[in-house]
Amino acid sequence: MEQFKGKSRLPSFAIPKRYELDLVPDLSGCKFGGSVRISVDVVSDTRFIVLNSAALSIDSQSVRFRSPQSWFQELSPSEVVLVEEDEILVLGFDEVLPIGEGVLAIAFAGTLNDQMKGFYRSTYEHNGEKKNMAVTQFEPADARRCFPCWDEPAMKASFKITLVVPTELVALSNMPVTEEKVDGLVKTLYFQESPIMSSYLVAIVVGLFDYVEAVTPDGINVRVYCQVGKSDQGKFALDVAVKSLNLYKGYFAEPYALPKLDMVAIPDFAAGAMENYGLVTYRETALLYDARHSAASSKQGVAITVAHELAHQWFGNLVTMEWWTHLWLNEGFATWMSYLAVDSIFPEWNIWTQFLDDSTSGLRLDALAESHPIEVDINHASEIDEIFDDISYSKGAAVIRMLQSYLGASCFQRSLASYIKRYAFSNAKTEDLWAVLEEESGEPVKMLMNSWTKQKGYPVVSLTLKSQVLEFDQTHFLADGSSGDGQWIVPLTLCCSSYNAQKKFLLKTKYDKLDILELLGSPSGKASLFGENSQGIAGGSWIKFNVDQTGFYRVKYDVELAAALINAVKSKQLSATDRYGLLEDSFALCMACKQTLSSLLSLLDAYREELEYTVLSHIITISYKVISVAADAIPGLLDDIKRFFIGILQVHAQKLGWESRDGESHLDVMLRGELLIALAKFGHDITHNEAVRRFEAFLNDRNTLLLPPDTRKAAYVAIMQTVTISNKSGYESLLRIYRETDESQEKVRILGSLASCPDPEIVLEALNFLLTTEVRNQDAVYGLGGVSRNGRETAWKWLKENWEYISKTWAGSLLTSFISSIVSPFSSDEKAEEIESFFSSRITPSITRTLKQSIERVKINSKWRESIRNDHSLGEVVKELSHK
Ligand code: BES
Ligand code: ZN
Repeated sequence: MEQFKGKSRLPSFAIPKRYELDLVPDLSGCKFGGSVRISVDVVSDTRFIVLNSAALSIDSQSVRFRSPQSWFQELSPSEVVLVEEDEILVLGFDEVLPIGEGVLAIAFAGTLNDQMKGFYRSTYEHNGEKKNMAVTQFEPADARRCFPCWDEPAMKASFKITLVVPTELVALSNMPVTEEKVDGLVKTLYFQESPIMSSYLVAIVVGLFDYVEAVTPDGINVRVYCQVGKSDQGKFALDVAVKSLNLYKGYFAEPYALPKLDMVAIPDFAAGAMENYGLVTYRETALLYDARHSAASSKQGVAITVAHELAHQWFGNLVTMEWWTHLWLNEGFATWMSYLAVDSIFPEWNIWTQFLDDSTSGLRLDALAESHPIEVDINHASEIDEIFDDISYSKGAAVIRMLQSYLGASCFQRSLASYIKRYAFSNAKTEDLWAVLEEESGEPVKMLMNSWTKQKGYPVVSLTLKSQVLEFDQTHFLADGSSGDGQWIVPLTLCCSSYNAQKKFLLKTKYDKLDILELLGSPSGKASLFGENSQGIAGGSWIKFNVDQTGFYRVKYDVELAAALINAVKSKQLSATDRYGLLEDSFALCMACKQTLSSLLSLLDAYREELEYTVLSHIITISYKVISVAADAIPGLLDDIKRFFIGILQVHAQKLGWESRDGESHLDVMLRGELLIALAKFGHDITHNEAVRRFEAFLNDRNTLLLPPDTRKAAYVAIMQTVTISNKSGYESLLRIYRETDESQEKVRILGSLASCPDPEIVLEALNFLLTTEVRNQDAVYGLGGVSRNGRETAWKWLKENWEYISKTWAGSLLTSFISSIVSPFSSDEKAEEIESFFSSRITPSITRTLKQSIERVKINSKWRESIRNDHSLGEVVKELSHK
């Protein structure tokens, strides 16, 4: 017995092959009963069977083991022990079990919980009446809360599910229904047996729904289920789903493995979406799109989410990671593939340029000392949740992109198809993928990629040009300005003065140098770069490294190379991705105190004629950070810095206006929303007055064309800028809209605006509102993101006072987002200490990583703030730039 405790994996003397699972959910009583018969293969001598179970009451008397040798003689265990802390059920028999196949039968019961994990209850309204639905969310390790099982990704088995539910309800599972028996008020649904799959992908949904459907050219029935009366809002996702399925079938040279695909909008949902095999579940905001009420950014979000979850049907569901250490194989690939699919369906969205925001999130997190390698040890189920982070998703996707661009798109696709074929209905590790890629490409993929997935962090490559020799120096980049001890094999790319002159090579050591002549291969190239007889770089020439930002590293140029690139930006010679990259690397170097804020602002000044959505959107992101730290460091210059950013942004805002125009591009629509929000936050008068006027019109008529969904959040934020505790009417109007609407996207917009008010007393009211029953637990996170700078202290005090309740009510990433959103904006060492000391007695394994990362961010902000105070040319530069 004792020997099974405290282990990270189940013992492997019995392996599950097939589950027959019967469940009877009681929606009004919020409980369920069930029984399971599991065919297992006993592969070595044992008296014990050990499987997972959590929060279930097991009927000990019901447990039986039958083997073909003793078909009529059923064995009952003499010991049935639930080890709560390890979430295992240990069955001890008096005799050694016969080797070979046997069937384990167990009856059990459980509660439909409110935690959005395991088998849980979600609520909705139908004809004014509050109703319950029953939903499962098993990833990463919560199938064990619904039925006893071998709850590990490598323990694949087939599932034959039977549900007994009220006759009027829709009940869905991974496979189609083969038979339905109605018996008065209840019906029994028999689902077809599934192919072998991992337990975390099993799913059940029971409730009232409408649906829309389509059939793929291969005859696969695809449906989108949503709340009764809203099925029109499922049409967009349905279309994306059908197109994605087709695309992936071609890309992987392997058809979708199941006979149907259902996608369901769930009103209470912890993540954004979940790729259950054949039954994908979503938050409403991630699946539903309504042309009248949804913003263009929501439309894009739906497309990306659907494409992501459907990529998992191959990468994840058909071929599954062997253990959670390889989670990134699932999430990194699905993220990368979603861009591939969306780019093909909506080429006009320039989605690969937008992908850089994903890479940037990876680069930001991975620059912390408290980051972790892509392949991370997992020793306990409670550690899995925290690795669904920007390392597994964004860095994962970015290193895939880096490898793809190094090996070439067609070689990469061929290798992936053969990987999928080789490991279909099975499991794989990271090195299995490298092996296939190495075979197909003949390149040293394993050696190259180990340096990216087995150690945390990434390099900054510093470049100096001395006497026509380029010198490289890679160091482990850390956001606080120090350097780590990592070293990488860096697939470097560069181009000289034109995208036609590109080179690539592997930087394998810390230092390296290259003769520019060798690099360009011809004396004429040299001449064009340097000019005749010149030592330095010629006017008009430039060298850009990390071409199109496909590499996961940063570049630091020497003064001369940097100046040449600024000219290239001004003379519009760089691609949008390279303009983005140059700016982002400069910004990161500036935060790490390796470059002054004045030089960053001068670089930004070169972007006055920028037109690309993603680049402008990134300028906005950077402006928020700069303004926030400037407010702490140099309050006297704050107004001028704001004026500088307003100057860059308002030209575009003026051009785009507030209303939609026929035929305008998706990217312009998204840009308009972001620009107006930024201008509203910076207190731009014209924007504010216009927002007030349009908001009034919207209050009188929710269908007014004066305030389309894409500009609504900007109006809400603008309104909140002038609300005070003694004049709350704007705040109250927003609450009224919140209460009247049944659109989740509208509710989210409002929640994200309320706490942006500069009056701390209003911030407190907004935060308290998040804890009321009017806000679903899944949505509180939206309210935390928008807290104004003036509201920081209030929010921190509020978090401390409510921590006990919050830590009991939320879990996983929903809980950690309370910490990261409220803690990270501070910028002083004293605050970091105060935060550390508050949590020292409240720390738990599930918040440890996020807490350390958030405190590290506060310390980084603090250093940055100090360095800005010491930037003596800043005042002059800001004055000059802000009056242009
Ligand atoms: N497998 C995840 C869902 C998940 C996340 C389960 C965390 C358990 C813990 C799913 O495929 C996913 O990645 N969803 C994303 C959406 C996607 C578009 C990035 C999400 O939920 O944010
Ligand atoms: Zn995913």
